Amino acid sequence: MKKIIKNGTVVTASDIYQAEILIEDGKVAQIGTNLEALGAEVIDAKGCYVFPGGVDPHTHFDMPFGGTVTKDDFETGTIGAAFGGTTTVIDFCLTDKGIPLKNAIQTWHEKSGEKAVIDYGFHLMIGEINDDVLAQLPQVINEEGITSFKVFMAYKNVLQADDETLYRTLAFAKEHGALVMVHAENGDVIDYLTKKALADGNTDPIYHALTRPQELEGEATGRAAKLTGLANSQLYVVHVTCADAVEQIAEARKKGFNVWGETCPQYLVLDQSYLEKPNFEGAKYVWSPPLREKWNQDVLWNALKNGELQTLGSDQCSFDFKGQKELGRGDFSKIPNGGPIVEDRLSILFSEGVKKGRISLNQFVELTSTRAAKLFGLFPKKGTIAVGADADIVIFDPNVERVISAESHHLAVDYNAFEGMKVIGEPVSVMVRGEFVVRDKQLVAKPGTGQFLKRAKYNTPVIQSESLPIN
Ligand code: URP
Ligand code: ZN
Ligand code: ZN
Repeated sequence: MKKIIKNGTVVTASDIYQAEILIEDGKVAQIGTNLEALGAEVIDAKGCYVFPGGVDPHTHFDMPFGGTVTKDDFETGTIGAAFGGTTTVIDFCLTDKGIPLKNAIQTWHEKSGEKAVIDYGFHLMIGEINDDVLAQLPQVINEEGITSFKVFMAYKNVLQADDETLYRTLAFAKEHGALVMVHAENGDVIDYLTKKALADGNTDPIYHALTRPQELEGEATGRAAKLTGLANSQLYVVHVTCADAVEQIAEARKKGFNVWGETCPQYLVLDQSYLEKPNFEGAKYVWSPPLREKWNQDVLWNALKNGELQTLGSDQCSFDFKGQKELGRGDFSKIPNGGPIVEDRLSILFSEGVKKGRISLNQFVELTSTRAAKLFGLFPKKGTIAVGADADIVIFDPNVERVISAESHHLAVDYNAFEGMKVIGEPVSVMVRGEFVVRDKQLVAKPGTGQFLKRAKYNTPVIQSESLPIN
């Protein structure tokens, strides 16, 4: 059935204007005023912004990690995402050394296929490079539609890959049109500092942060950026937290290297002191890289504003406090790393960014949707409101005030990292391909309605197309 959205203010990464949007067969069919829409269902967006659905390029649903499995899977995770205004996620498919890559991809399809309520794609983790892996990768790109690879420079003896693997992945990606993502921390030194802290009897959650200082993130970011320049390849640095890492990305970009940076809401509004909360509550804030000293927040906000960082991911990776985070009582290194973020990504950036004048409304759309869609081969199907694009649309009330809480969130996890935070602005209704997933703040979609997205290759002209207005 046709739908028409009336009375809203359409916001894309480049424009803000009043218009009606006619939706037909899941796509945006027309944008204009006084549209002919006989028989169309009318949706009133009075007083609201109409945004393209959020694209979150960084989630971990149903992922085994830290001796347990993330609490939120593709059902509860994508429901939380939808309530927060995200209509596409790209999740990390883990691989095991020596096991065919297609088996890992099949496992991720089994986790997601009957559960997701929004659209989704996968990144593929690369833990080792050898002739056998290299022979499988073209098929991953060309047939599976997985056009981004993730290399972990940390989590020694678990996920960490060596520099040869990173360099050869970058070289392969250059030749075959993929984007390499890195978790940039120096895992070897962290491993040593962790063992030393524990041997000295320092077992509390705060030592998670103290054994992962920002120099080790800066060093790994700089190393990855330099290897990218050497390979003349392309790199996306996930979850950038601190000044040291921002400097490395900015320097690489000044040299003309294709290096992109993502930060996440938690690093913009929370700080290292949260890990010192009493009664082991600091464990709720244990993720990697860790929360930093508060002064880094201004550096990150400025980097978003001036384009040194280009996207906002969530790094959703939730573990219950009870029974999961508690695995690390008496040994911080056993606290599963990660937090529940996906649902609050847009609200926090809107409230703390747009409402407080740190970024513009167009930048909000660019950071939460458009840039990730471009980088990860989804634009213009996703990431914008344009004729022919998927009708992935968020009707967003910019004035409603609420307090974030685990009592009202839609994730399965038992706590919220932003508990008690007041935010202004909230999605009211969210559509994927023209169908409501959330309507008037109620879930209406069934699990399994989300579709897997085969993504296009890394495409420099698309990525570099300018959509930010000149400030
Ligand atoms: O602590 C985190 N960030 N957990 C998820 C895995 C990763 O490093 O992205
Ligand atoms: Zn990571
Ligand atoms: Zn992550």
